[in-house]
Amino acid sequence: MFGTYIHIPFCEKLCTYCDFAKEIAKPEKKRAYLEALFYEMALTHSTLKHSDTVYIGGGTPTALSDADFAALLKEIARYVDVASLKEFTVEANPSSLTAEKARLMKLYGVTRVSLGVQTFNDAYLTLINRDHRQADVLTALSHLTAHGLDNFSLDIMFGLPTQTMQAFEKDLDAFLEIKAAHYSIYALILEDHTKLHHQIKHGLLTLPDDDSVADMYGLIIQRLTDAGYEHYEISSFARPSKRSLHNQVYWRNDRYIGLGAGAHGRLDHRRYENIRSVKKYTEGMIEKGLDTRIYYAYKPIHDTLMMGLRMRDGIDLNAFQAAFNTHPLTRFPGLKKTLDDGLIRIQNDHLQLTDKGLFFANDVWMECMDDETTSEGI
Ligand SMILES: C[S@@+](CC[C@H](N)C(=O)[O-])C[C@H]1O[C@@H](n2cnc3c(N)ncnc32)[C@H](O)[C@@H]1O
Repeated sequence: MFGTYIHIPFCEKLCTYCDFAKEIAKPEKKRAYLEALFYEMALTHSTLKHSDTVYIGGGTPTALSDADFAALLKEIARYVDVASLKEFTVEANPSSLTAEKARLMKLYGVTRVSLGVQTFNDAYLTLINRDHRQADVLTALSHLTAHGLDNFSLDIMFGLPTQTMQAFEKDLDAFLEIKAAHYSIYALILEDHTKLHHQIKHGLLTLPDDDSVADMYGLIIQRLTDAGYEHYEISSFARPSKRSLHNQVYWRNDRYIGLGAGAHGRLDHRRYENIRSVKKYTEGMIEKGLDTRIYYAYKPIHDTLMMGLRMRDGIDLNAFQAAFNTHPLTRFPGLKKTLDDGLIRIQNDHLQLTDKGLFFANDVWMECMDDETTSEGI
């Protein structure tokens, strides 16, 4: 599978926890950015035509004006045979997913929408500086379903500042009531240099302790699997046949191209990142084209292991042997301890996290990084 990721680094309001490449921008800056992005698409047209999946993420793609959003979808259709894509996802925010945006998505062949809900609790939405309220989610979903876009995923976060188990349980009830095809449910990561980091550091807010966050995660797994969702990746739950194909490109360490500011790609055994600053990306792409890509050291064996273990099915050990001519436990002897501790297991020729391992995945990742003896290229 080959994936195309397109980054739209604009938001209407900045969430306190977010560390992704994004900013609030004037319409002229957004249009200049799109010009550069369209130029990057033209430069990579021979790669784009091989796309099996397209994912427009952000930032917030729906923060574009209707005209810019339509122009983006139209431009994609110039280079990608949209009708033959296996999946075409757009990320959207409840406040900017208008009826017109839903119409445009349907018109240009979008098959899946990922909606950033985060929480249904208006007090927490205010606390993390979201620009929508619970009622906006229902309105946005009504636009999607009115246009036949019923394959949607909801992004949810837990472990929010001051969030109690009781409050989260109520949230979970509200999410499940929507019966989405897919849920991506993330534990809040406190990123450096974010407003939330500052608030926590200065005692202005507190985060729930690790045990409470683990209890929330346990409840999520229990409630979603009881409701018939497949827990197929650490943070991802899908109805049968509704797993995210594009995200599986990343987890299976397949090839993908990333377009736009701060986007990452993995092509021809090389990994790169585009310039993160919108201004520098916009100017750089027009002046120097793909020479602006920043290539960085890439060890396929690490990525295959760490990304693959995110999936509940885990890593196919026969495929791993064929690709790297070794076994994960031979190559990373530290993993044996996590096997003995019951964090990973081998089942049907697959290496996978156990139920217990889901809660201690970081301990497993640490052992996959213990890599002093790595030879160049693997
Ligand atoms: C970059 S955001 C873009 C999506 C959309 N604009 C939004 O936020 O509603 C993608 C998802 O990453 C998750 N995310 C962002 N920052 C996070 C953090 N610090 N910790 C955990 N999850 C985070 C959120 O669930 C979010 O929906």
